[in-house]
Amino acid sequence: MGKTIVIQPVTRIEGHAKITIQLDDAGDVSLARVNVIELRGFERFCMGRPVEDMPRITPRICGVCPWSHHLAAAKACDAVFGVEPPPAGAKLRELCNSIAFMEEHILHFYFLAGADFLLGPDADYSVRNVIGVLQAAPEVARRVVRVRHMCAKMLEIIAGKAIHPQAAVPGGFSKPLAKDERDHLRTMADEALELAKFSIAFAKESVFPKYLDVVKSLGVITSGFIGTVKENGALNLYDGKLRMMASDGSFDEFPYDRYTEYIGEHIEPWSYLKFPYAKKRGGFSLEDNAPGLYRANTLARINVCDFIDTPLAQAELEEFRRKFGRPAQLTLLYHWARLIELLYNAENAIRLLDDADITCPETRVKVTPRAARGVGCTEAPRGTLIHDYETDADGMITNMNLIVGTTHNNAPINLSVTQAAKSLIHGGQYDQGVLNTVEMAIRAYDPCLSCATHRLDGKLSVKLDIFDAKGSLLDTFAN
Ligand code: MG
Ligand code: NI
Repeated sequence: MGKTIVIQPVTRIEGHAKITIQLDDAGDVSLARVNVIELRGFERFCMGRPVEDMPRITPRICGVCPWSHHLAAAKACDAVFGVEPPPAGAKLRELCNSIAFMEEHILHFYFLAGADFLLGPDADYSVRNVIGVLQAAPEVARRVVRVRHMCAKMLEIIAGKAIHPQAAVPGGFSKPLAKDERDHLRTMADEALELAKFSIAFAKESVFPKYLDVVKSLGVITSGFIGTVKENGALNLYDGKLRMMASDGSFDEFPYDRYTEYIGEHIEPWSYLKFPYAKKRGGFSLEDNAPGLYRANTLARINVCDFIDTPLAQAELEEFRRKFGRPAQLTLLYHWARLIELLYNAENAIRLLDDADITCPETRVKVTPRAARGVGCTEAPRGTLIHDYETDADGMITNMNLIVGTTHNNAPINLSVTQAAKSLIHGGQYDQGVLNTVEMAIRAYDPCLSCATHRLDGKLSVKLDIFDAKGSLLDTFAN
């Protein structure tokens, strides 16, 4: 009977997970799994509540991604009530989305993933952390902290508060933007754009070339992709149609309220996180290059779009495609794609602030309760986010489904971790640097697990391991 290696907790991700790696008698990896060990349950306890509460309740799913849930919920409410927000309402929502994206992408690149690249994958864990980043590159770190703080300030000016927002309402946005507020935001957006330009230049010059071998070999799998594009095929992170691309580059497109025809959800007993798969392409299979396998998040969106309609990000996309093709498959390219999106969001925020509609006082329309089903979908920093609500005649929720960005990546993350473990661990030999490199395969996907686990159909299974003070397993309870 071979040994089991457990990495717990997985660090520098959002939420809680453990990695279990099973070794065979020769000390080689026979199986690796990412177990998601938390359950949030919003899909259940939101039932019976007024649908207009959802844009206020669902941001509490996550302190990291509140804006994504806020906006997807507001869009699902629009659909339930059968209304369309006026241009200023929709544009204020999109502006907040772009600012929240910048905050998230900066956080991930510099502080969650950055330690692996700036200090090295096998640096000792006492320095391979956010404090280590601050010490290794103090000037850059100071600038990063300042711009992240500024993004939070921008959201506060537009929406009253940055975390757990309430400004998007069914039918639009509750607070029009004043012209002097817009002017103040515009100078802040310029500074964010400067950091975005610096970040991608810095990464292309000093980070990616150093780790090209790791990029080419770590966590590599082949899959399809999902993301949102506008009618003309341009990248869009707030609204559009869904495009599901197969690994050969062919794709299906559909309005997001028809997602159940294209996306199936599978359940495994060893994780609280569901496993979505591309229904029209194949059934669920936890195998590399399975026809139903697809990925979401930055690399997926950069792959599925035909172009980006802002000039600097488009130039970066062209360079990226010349180097890596379309669809690009290397998992660590998620980081590169994240920086292209950072640039797009900075350009998009400036474009929206320069749009005359943004300060128009007509930001919302009236809504009336009715029995209906409504689907809201936005791109969250971590992937395509779907909120699906059904209501009775009083507007109370009778059914609810959420598919969160990270959920789409559940099978791919497991496959990338398996590939990483198999390529790095041989003959029972490993050290903390090797185990951290395995974790890097997860970090590329920037998962948010607190966002992603909401309901298990059927029996809720629980497995409890009891350890003594020295860490040896005393007993196991399973229902
Ligand atoms: Mg769900
Ligand atoms: Ni989250």
